[in-house]
Amino acid sequence: MIKVGIIGAMELEVEQLKADMSEAKIVKKAGMDFHEGALNGADAVVVRCGIGKVNAALCVQILADVFGVTHVINTGVAGSLNAALDIGDILISKDALHHDMDVRVFGYQLGEVPQMGFREFTADVQLADLARNACEKVNPDINVVLGRVVSGDQFISSKEVKEHLISEFHGDCAEMEGASIAHGAYLNGIPFVIIRAISDKADDSAEMDYPTFEKAAARHSAALVEEMLKELRS
Ligand code: ADE
Repeated sequence: MIKVGIIGAMELEVEQLKADMSEAKIVKKAGMDFHEGALNGADAVVVRCGIGKVNAALCVQILADVFGVTHVINTGVAGSLNAALDIGDILISKDALHHDMDVRVFGYQLGEVPQMGFREFTADVQLADLARNACEKVNPDINVVLGRVVSGDQFISSKEVKEHLISEFHGDCAEMEGASIAHGAYLNGIPFVIIRAISDKADDSAEMDYPTFEKAAARHSAALVEEMLKELRS
């Protein structure tokens, strides 16, 4: 039996999913509304976790402990770090890491959480494949890239910081929750995938582009998730 936890940081990333659920009941925890019900025939819990890594980590733990989810999908928007990813394109996670973790002074790699032994949290290959196939179905004109999500409690809007994230981490997109969701899913042994539509280029134009494109980008990502559930339910 599968039960899919679907997390978006912002309301516009989950509003369509919540509207499309049937027989959903709302459970409140840690200031978050967990919508538990069926989505496209699959058991699902849809939740807006709020922005940033702490909110995201708490949310995954609640999905694991209270709802017993078997899979976690993160849907939302991100800034592009890859020239092949334009505004409106979609990034599906190969892996994710924390770009703001720095314990190099004790010999750890930049981005490595001490004592974990690695810095990249690997996404579930089957979920990533499902996401890619679903995207071809619902968003056939949209360019999709499999790549690395780098996350930190920071909105990236400068060329210098963007260059740093590319040179240090080979990141493909930057956002503020994915690595925490990946980290929490890993600790709980739950397969995960992050799906992010590009809303800006994480550079000096990000401040202007983000408000213009976030809505359409968030919708594309959510539509893809809905299509994935049709496959996951069987
Ligand atoms: N989410 C969307 N765009 C972003 C950016 N440039 N930095 C961090 N999070 C984002």
